[in-house]
Amino acid sequence: HKHLLEAADLDLDDATLVLDTAAQIESALAGREVKKLPTLRGRTVVNLFFEDSTRTRISFELAAKRLSADVINFSAKGSSVSKGESLKDTALTLEAMGADGIVVRHSASGAPHRLATWVAGSVVNAGDGTHEHPTQALLDAFTIRKRLGRLEGVRVVITGDVLHSRVARSNVRLLHTLGAEVTLVAPPTLLPVGIGSWPVTVSYDLDAVLPTADVVMMLRVQAERMNASFFPSAREYSRRYGLDADRMARLADDAIVMHPGPMVRGMEIAADVADSARSTIVEQVGNGVSVRMAVLYLLLGGNA
Ligand code: CP
Repeated sequence: HKHLLEAADLDLDDATLVLDTAAQIESALAGREVKKLPTLRGRTVVNLFFEDSTRTRISFELAAKRLSADVINFSAKGSSVSKGESLKDTALTLEAMGADGIVVRHSASGAPHRLATWVAGSVVNAGDGTHEHPTQALLDAFTIRKRLGRLEGVRVVITGDVLHSRVARSNVRLLHTLGAEVTLVAPPTLLPVGIGSWPVTVSYDLDAVLPTADVVMMLRVQAERMNASFFPSAREYSRRYGLDADRMARLADDAIVMHPGPMVRGMEIAADVADSARSTIVEQVGNGVSVRMAVLYLLLGGNA
């Protein structure tokens, strides 16, 4: 593979290779004082971010640095994008300076696919509009496998603003590829048209599905992607779809609580749930570095 644009780019063998490579990288670096591998020495990775990010941008930067690549961080804010420069010209400019890999986040769904037709290097989708965020799904799968020991047959409940969630789309696709069973729970207004063709079960009753879940993954309500009339009342949303301690008590003893971040404490997830022993939220972030190292290694330095 040359690019990672969406979860559907990965079949079961590909996805398993990424997860296994991330695990190998983790064990190779465990206990080492200098957490660095020489694999991508002399290669250049550009983080091209047209939308805000904390976790994804920093973990891609760390991942590339730990593989000894040179890293350039580009934010649209403060660049010549403000003077009207297009995505294509921005990308060609970066490529002319020697970028081997471009990690791109953009508010337009499909932007990474367009980019991949313009540049010679590898393109990794770091989140495009409401479309996909494949490395998030990989790090989520890695976290589930690490915590529960398997993915095949694992029952995953994804709850919240599925309509605007690229994380949900990538997770549904990848978890299906990996043999997990996904149930989506959301108010009808926050489910996409066409959900009938997704490989999922749909429910509107979180309390009813929690007792059968191995994993519950909470999603943020993306107010910035909706107009005010669409935005549900926070109190009503929380009451029906938020995960608080009472609801969490419905989960099986070994079930885990996930959230891709950024979370809104008190809205989709209560603070005591986010900070509980069941929560893998901080662990997910750490796993993100290993998984992104695996992706960069396989695309830019490996033999995949
Ligand atoms: N989960 C995630 O993509 O977070 P950021 O938007 O902070 O990168």
